[in-house]
Amino acid sequence: MHEIPIITIDGPSGSGKGTVSRAVAKTLGWSLLDSGALYRLVALGARRASVSLDDGPALAQLAGRIDIRFDSSPGGDEVVWLDGQEVTRAIRTEQAGGDASRVASLGEVRGALLDRQRRFAAPPGLVADGRDMGTVVFPWARPKIFLDASPAERALRRYKQLKEKGVAANLAALSLEIAERDRRDSTRTASPLVASADATVLDTTGMSVDEVIGRVLKIAREFV
Ligand code: C5P
Repeated sequence: MHEIPIITIDGPSGSGKGTVSRAVAKTLGWSLLDSGALYRLVALGARRASVSLDDGPALAQLAGRIDIRFDSSPGGDEVVWLDGQEVTRAIRTEQAGGDASRVASLGEVRGALLDRQRRFAAPPGLVADGRDMGTVVFPWARPKIFLDASPAERALRRYKQLKEKGVAANLAALSLEIAERDRRDSTRTASPLVASADATVLDTTGMSVDEVIGRVLKIAREFV
């Protein structure tokens, strides 16, 4: 497993990780691990099975047994399946994001997802997008990137993203949600959101998505 090239891209909500990771994976022809989607799927699965979002052991059991599939539509759009049901949009709501952040604070859930995440590593390589990809899940990866941006800019990006998808959004409410998620993600004891000591930190405030993709690809090409 350690011979497979892996690039980790970590950072807070709205830092552009998702878009950048997807583009980098596509350009390199590598697989993508959207680890946030796994936490979102566990949270949605828990809601659907009426499992409490605070019940670590029950959530860990659910995380181990749910059937998760990432596909693409004929048009190339991502399609996500949970136990045979299509949940592409359902996992992207702000509610699902908040629920994901709650279940992600539990060590049992993180442990249950560890091997599942590592199994995404496959030749010719993997781009791993998340919060603890470089620190916990793939500490041997090279290079490790940590994307950041000011909270105001991250809230605005999220707002535009949701609008584009036709999802109703409120900027003030989003800013509060992002601040709350940042607080929870960086203060939890289980794998808090921190840049790995050996990560390249990129502050993307004021940068366009294409600029960020270009910078990440340039760093990636120094290693692979
Ligand atoms: O990246 P995304 O917004 O989809 O992640 C949803 C939530 O899942 C995050 O707010 C975070 O709490 C959690 N998460 C995590 N570790 C990861 C990826 C996501 O704790 N590697």
